[in-house]
Amino acid sequence: MTFPIDRARADTPGVDHVAHCNNAGAALPPNVVTETVVEHLRLESRIGGYEAAADTADAHEAVYRSIAALIGAEAVEIALVENATRAWDMAVYGFPFSTGDRVITARAEYASNAIALLQLRQRHDLEIVLVDDDEHGQIDLDALDAELARGAAMVALTHVPTGGGLVNPAAEVGARCREAGVCFVLDACQSAGQLPLDVDRLQCDVLSATGRKFLRGPRGTGFLYVRDEWIGRLEPPLLDLHAAEWTSATTFRIRDDARRFEGWEASRAGQLGLGAAVDYAMDVGVDAGWARLHTLAERLRRQLTDLDGVSVHDKGAVRGGIVTFAVDGHDSVAVKEQLRAARVNTSTTTPSHGHLDGRALPALVRASVHYYNTEDELDRLVDVIVGLTGRS
Ligand SMILES: Cc1ncc(COP(=O)(O)O)c(C=O)c1O
Repeated sequence: MTFPIDRARADTPGVDHVAHCNNAGAALPPNVVTETVVEHLRLESRIGGYEAAADTADAHEAVYRSIAALIGAEAVEIALVENATRAWDMAVYGFPFSTGDRVITARAEYASNAIALLQLRQRHDLEIVLVDDDEHGQIDLDALDAELARGAAMVALTHVPTGGGLVNPAAEVGARCREAGVCFVLDACQSAGQLPLDVDRLQCDVLSATGRKFLRGPRGTGFLYVRDEWIGRLEPPLLDLHAAEWTSATTFRIRDDARRFEGWEASRAGQLGLGAAVDYAMDVGVDAGWARLHTLAERLRRQLTDLDGVSVHDKGAVRGGIVTFAVDGHDSVAVKEQLRAARVNTSTTTPSHGHLDGRALPALVRASVHYYNTEDELDRLVDVIVGLTGRS
């Protein structure tokens, strides 16, 4: 079946202005997302914020069900939070670590998660174990087996890193964690909306995601999934009167569902917009979107690899929509600006965010494609790079 690219682009007004290859930063939203957000803000301005929340309570409840459907979970296992980092933090800082526990992670771990683990190491004298890459540049599953055999409290894995095309074999990791009885925390920030996610297939106990990237939702939105059996075992590091009930002057009771990881105040407009983005993603079909963006990204990698003076740096046996490259003799930030001037949006990687990466790479240009991109747009990107290499 051919991908409904005309519909996807007709639904995305941004494509008339820019070739947007910064979807790993924040994707262009479809109309329905923008309209949902703006409509709710207008309702708030007409009748009041609390009244608007009351009148849209059913739609708000439906957001939990939509997210649950997207990842094969139950609505009670979903919390709506501001972003992927806060989602991950609420679960991991809430983990009942014992002194000296081992936490296993891998080279692709996101910088904020790595910083949090270092802080938790100070608090609990944790041993942070780094599993090396295999020959494909993904987490080495044999090395993981060996580390799990030594015992661990948690495995924290980033599914798709911020700085490259790698798709880590999360389901293989999940199966090993399940077998070993170890909590598996999956950072799905870059994979949510990019590729199909099913928490039972992945066998993850915690999954964190953001709204604005491949899901095409509003900024300032994200969600946390916690497997039912783990909800009661993770005590939120922060509580308020939404996450807990003040039962007497001296007592409180934490909620039983995943909303214990939420705070009371949030952007209702943003959350409804996130729901619209998730519904849209499921309507387009995450499988179909993944097939298309995967093909586009491989095409772009081939085009760039074929250019003299350009190096492509994506690792992995399976590679997704994030394409990273450097142009000899050109600073990547300057390349990004040149592309921006040609109305092609990209971004750059930050070397200091990749201390675990092990490759000591300079800043790279990051072109992250979505299903709504076209071959013509990618050719425009490549033309700019050809122009630069011709001049270097
Ligand atoms: C892999 C990964 N995890 C987590 C995050 C943090 O997401 P957020 O900015 O929504 O907190 C990012 C952001 O780029 C990311 O790429």
